[in-house]
Amino acid sequence: MKKDNLKITIAGGGSTYTPGIIQAILNNIDRLPIKEIRLYDIDEARNNDMFLIIDYMLKRENLTYITLKAILDPEEAFTDSDFIFSQIRVGGMKMRETDEKIPLKYGLVGQETCGLGGFAYGLRSISGLLEVVGHVQTYAPHAWILNYTNPETIISEAVRRVYPKAKMLNACDMTISIEETIAFNYGYDRKNWISEYYGLNHFGWYTKIYDKSLERDVMPEIIEKLNTENMKVADFNAGDKSWQEAFNMMSVITKNFPTNIPNNYLEYYLYPDMVVEETDKEYTRANMVMEGREKNTREMAEKIRQGKTEDVLNFNFGEHGQYIVDMASSIMNDEHQRFMLIVPNNGAIPNLRSDAVVEVPAYVGATGAEPISLRENIGDFHKGLMEAQVAAEKLLVDAYFENSYQKALQAFTLNQTVPSARLAKLVLDEMIEANKEYWPKLK
Ligand code: G6P
Ligand code: MN
Repeated sequence: MKKDNLKITIAGGGSTYTPGIIQAILNNIDRLPIKEIRLYDIDEARNNDMFLIIDYMLKRENLTYITLKAILDPEEAFTDSDFIFSQIRVGGMKMRETDEKIPLKYGLVGQETCGLGGFAYGLRSISGLLEVVGHVQTYAPHAWILNYTNPETIISEAVRRVYPKAKMLNACDMTISIEETIAFNYGYDRKNWISEYYGLNHFGWYTKIYDKSLERDVMPEIIEKLNTENMKVADFNAGDKSWQEAFNMMSVITKNFPTNIPNNYLEYYLYPDMVVEETDKEYTRANMVMEGREKNTREMAEKIRQGKTEDVLNFNFGEHGQYIVDMASSIMNDEHQRFMLIVPNNGAIPNLRSDAVVEVPAYVGATGAEPISLRENIGDFHKGLMEAQVAAEKLLVDAYFENSYQKALQAFTLNQTVPSARLAKLVLDEMIEANKEYWPKLK
């Protein structure tokens, strides 16, 4: 592929994550020589705000040779692009709020990517992402798509059914953020780590964290520390109350199941009752993000519009942007860096069904991802949890493609945050109504 004058398209350009991604690009401009940045979004106002912010950042760093465009038309946005970073959110934060609040009304977990909220989001997200991937096949078939769009396992399952050959990496920043938080709290340098991990997206376990400088597996001592003292939130979400609670739950999990470091998202499947009890049903995470990151982003744009030049930027630079930039660079320069990626299982977890979509470490080079297979079978506890989740997600994707109410109801019932088919049906029926602009018609 091309090694300079790269064109990059950010699908979901108006997202609050865009400044962090751009900052990572600018910090790594030698490894990833970008000449043109295209912000593509269906929301013109948000995209225009982001144009102002990114334009300000480019000027501030004297990188005005980079062309910046805010684009609404897909042909213009994707033609000749080299990398597409996708972070679209179909329905925006308003629909995230519904995903969270409907299940909570029935006493069930209300969350963006886990439980029934994640399923609702999945049924909205599939068509949006299929559209992006389709545009890329038409206008930039040589390009690599690096996808952050949630819910990732459901999205990956749907995309591979339609575009099995798409040049696409599906990644999530959660493992890197867990590692960063552990390292920050307990005094390690995660750059020295080789992590072994398996699971589904937002649903997995570390099995080993080998520290190259200490020459030992540090996972057992980290678990001991987790059991003694909760971690404090680091970096991107520093000071954020709900992320603090999520990291506190990691200690609850390790106290009961001390064999592995869990992905914090397992709290929703292992302790749904606790989570629901602690959630404010009127003011959920979506509300916090709307009144936090989204508001900050509008304010940044407004300051620039008013001609302010000082104290304009107000975003946290987290691992999220760096991670995706590292992936792009690893492809382009064939670096074989190691990432946690969401890939078809195909034996990577030997005793889990091979057609599952799993999250495992993989090396990334010029030909894409080379997943690393586990050397042994996994135990029945994790396997049982995963099998149920995979089956539920597959049923949901079937429901999408077959317009099947019955399969959607089966998926909702099988979801492990749901104790009763009666509740599954009540939530499904209410969600059908709330999502009628977005979901396929279920018959
Ligand atoms: C992590 C996950 C993402 C998720 C995000 C939500 O980064 O990996 O998949 O979307 O958290 O964060 P928020 O601050 O929007 O609740
Ligand atoms: Mn994620």
